[in-house]
Amino acid sequence: MEYKSHINKENLPQHIAIIMDGNGRWAKKQGLLRSVGHEKGTKAVREVVEGCAEIDVKNLTLYAFSTENWNRPKLEVKTLMRLLVSSLKKEIKTLLDNNIKLNAIGCLDNLPTKARKELQEVIDKTAHNKHMTLTLALSYGSREELVHVIKEIAEKTKNNHLDIEEITEKTVDSHLYTSDLPDVDLMIRTSGEQRISNFLLWQMAYAELYFTPVLWPDFRREDLYEAIFKYQKRERRFGKTSEQL
Ligand code: FPP
Repeated sequence: MEYKSHINKENLPQHIAIIMDGNGRWAKKQGLLRSVGHEKGTKAVREVVEGCAEIDVKNLTLYAFSTENWNRPKLEVKTLMRLLVSSLKKEIKTLLDNNIKLNAIGCLDNLPTKARKELQEVIDKTAHNKHMTLTLALSYGSREELVHVIKEIAEKTKNNHLDIEEITEKTVDSHLYTSDLPDVDLMIRTSGEQRISNFLLWQMAYAELYFTPVLWPDFRREDLYEAIFKYQKRERRFGKTSEQL
C-alpha cells in the first residue's frame, strides 16, 4: 500500500521523535564495519527530515547520541562525531532550502569543540526558519535532563523566586531542554527493539509508540508515512473513555 496520499493532513502528529536504531546490525549483516552502518544511517536521516517537511509535520526530534553512547569504543564515538560534523556541513543547504530550523538538546558541552562549533553555526544560520524544527538529541539522557530541571527549580525556590505551591506541570515543562516544543505525539523506534532507552520520558507521557523491524539505514520516507498513517488509526484517549472523546 502507498501511505502518503492516505495521510489525513488535519490530524498530523505535532511532534515526532525517532530512536534511530540498528545501524550496527545492518552493517554486520553485510559483513561491513559498524561505521559504514552509521554512514548509511545519514541517508535515512535526510529521508525523514525531508519526508516530515513535505507533509508539514512541524517538529521532528532525532536521538543521535545518548549520554550512554559515550561508553562505546573510542573509534566508534569518533566516527559518530565526524559524521555529525560532515552531515551538518552537507545538510545546511537542505535545511535552508526547506525552511527548517535546527535545534539541539542534551549536554552539548560534552561534545568535541569542532562538533559544538559546527552545530552552533548551523543553529544560528537557521534560527529564523519557520516551516519545521529539527531537534538533534546529542549527549542526551532524559534522566539527566530531569535532574537538571529539578536543580533549576530547587535553586529558584531556595532564592525565593518561586513558591513550592506554585510548581505545576507547566513549571517542569518550561525548564526542560524541549521547553519550546510540544509534547511528543508519535515515537518511532526502528530495528525491532521495544524500549524507550532514556529518551524524552516526560515529553512522551501520552505519546503513541510505534516499533518497526526495519533497520535504521533501510528506513525511507514511505516507512515514515506508514508510521504516521498507523498513528492516525489509533484512538488516543488521554485517560478518558472512548465515549467521552
Ligand atoms: C543506533 O544504531 C544509532 C546510533 C547510536 C547513532 C545514530 C546516528 C546516525 C544515524 C548518523 C549520524 C546522525 C546525524 C543526525 C547526522 P546502533 O549502533 O545502536 O545499532 P545496533 O543496535 O544494531 O548496534
